[in-house]
Amino acid sequence: MHQLRATVAREFEQVNQLIVEQLHSDVDMVENVGHYIVDAGGKRLRPLLVLLSATALGECSKAHITFAAIIEFIHTATLLHDDVVDLSALRRGRPTANAKFGNAPSVLVGDFLYTRAFQLMVRLGDMDILTQMAETTNTIAEGEVLQLVRAGDDNVGETQYLDVITRKTAILFAAACYGAATLSSRDTNTRQQLRDFGLNLGIAFQMIDDVLDYDGNPEAMGKNVGDDLMEGKVTLPLIHTLRAGTAAEQELVRRAIRDRSANGIEQIAAAVKRCGALDYTRACAQRYHDRALEKLSLLPVTDARDALERLTGLSINRDR
Ligand code: IPE
Ligand code: IPE
Ligand code: MG
Ligand code: MG
Repeated sequence: MHQLRATVAREFEQVNQLIVEQLHSDVDMVENVGHYIVDAGGKRLRPLLVLLSATALGECSKAHITFAAIIEFIHTATLLHDDVVDLSALRRGRPTANAKFGNAPSVLVGDFLYTRAFQLMVRLGDMDILTQMAETTNTIAEGEVLQLVRAGDDNVGETQYLDVITRKTAILFAAACYGAATLSSRDTNTRQQLRDFGLNLGIAFQMIDDVLDYDGNPEAMGKNVGDDLMEGKVTLPLIHTLRAGTAAEQELVRRAIRDRSANGIEQIAAAVKRCGALDYTRACAQRYHDRALEKLSLLPVTDARDALERLTGLSINRDR
């Protein structure tokens, strides 16, 4: 990750500065909660995607820096909200904002970050970007609601799973890349290619996130394992176990989904691994990774394109 940032080190620093600057508020609680989650770090993958996409297309402008900060603000807002609805206790190696400050401050400061992102977008003054980001944030919200509605439903299949992760996660990766191409005044074709690159990358990224929820190391991830199971979230590892597991394993998983309980997480994680569901999910992620690389190969060879390729590889080969 560190090496990837080197290609756009100066711009990356500018994005981080802008993020801190834009957290400013006269209301102490906004700054306290905002800084709490922002200062904990995070991979800053999405702003990196903006900067590298821009550079791969020619030049990374001031507008790209602002757009990268916008994308990270939106991502951070979704994390604040997501940890409330997922009842999560650990994020970026710290107690979640909801655990530390409570649900209300997390939701409200999440709203602050969302709306700050739109204030920054208005400043950019690009109607295409505004249109695209209004649609994107609306779709993310739908994705999270859809997932909520389907929690506890052991009939959820792969198509529905793909629909949810596309909306809640991949669409923001797509918007980061598409927006970078838009600000570079690229033709519709190039924008679409970048969008498809981001979309496939985002799907692969979320599939690995769902693997890590059963197989990850909380210390490395900075998040707890078992959160998905606790919420009755039917992710690809569980969907596959419901097909490939023994009758007893299937029953175990069905009951956990219906009860929305992480009781017996060790047993379930063992079943998920034994029946090959994690390998299956990783193989699916690999396919989306490959599709992402295909889209990338249409761009001219540059250091930035090379970094995007490596970032794509890291997204499916990661422990955090
Ligand atoms: C977490 O995203 C939310 C998902 C879409 C899985 P990241 O793993 O990029 O989170 P940070 O920003 O690095 O903490
Ligand atoms: C993250 O989904 C998607 C959004 C934040 C919109 P998850 O709930 O799977 O991500 P983590 O595991 O909490 O980071
Ligand atoms: Mg979550
Ligand atoms: Mg998760």
